[in-house]
Amino acid sequence: MRRTRLLAGALFGILAGLAVAVFAGEQHPSALFLEYCAKCHGEDGRADTPKGRQLMARDFTDAEFQSSKTDAALIKQVTKGGEDMPPFGKKLSAAQIEGLVKNDVRGFAKKK
Ligand code: HEC
Repeated sequence: MRRTRLLAGALFGILAGLAVAVFAGEQHPSALFLEYCAKCHGEDGRADTPKGRQLMARDFTDAEFQSSKTDAALIKQVTKGGEDMPPFGKKLSAAQIEGLVKNDVRGFAKKK
């Protein structure tokens, strides 16, 4: 009984990990994130960069932040920009922005 459940849990973990890897299609954070976002948000999503600290960008690994925003709200912010964040709606396609939010920004929450 116990063993079956453990096994099922392990299997599920592996499958979920694989699914994320396949869905993302590339490493996390993505090349796109590193190119356009890491300057402020940091390669680890913590915004622990000179620019990120100066502008007080959010720590994407913070669970409270993650649960307080919907994907739609985040996509809108990246598209239209925020108070101190530049808009990316003209530079990037809607699909790219959706990927950045769903894979990169959300991806920081699951780690550690
Ligand atoms: C020039 C620095 C800068 C760059 C470049 C930048 N951001 Fe931001 N970002 C910020 C700041 C500062 C905030 C804090 C909120 C604000 O300014 O409105 C923010 C907020 C966000 C938020 C929403 C946080 C919230 O509280 O709702 C998301 C999501 C986000 N950024 C994603 C990205 C993505 C994806 C990219 C790359 C395409 C990117 N950012 C590039 C500075 C930056």
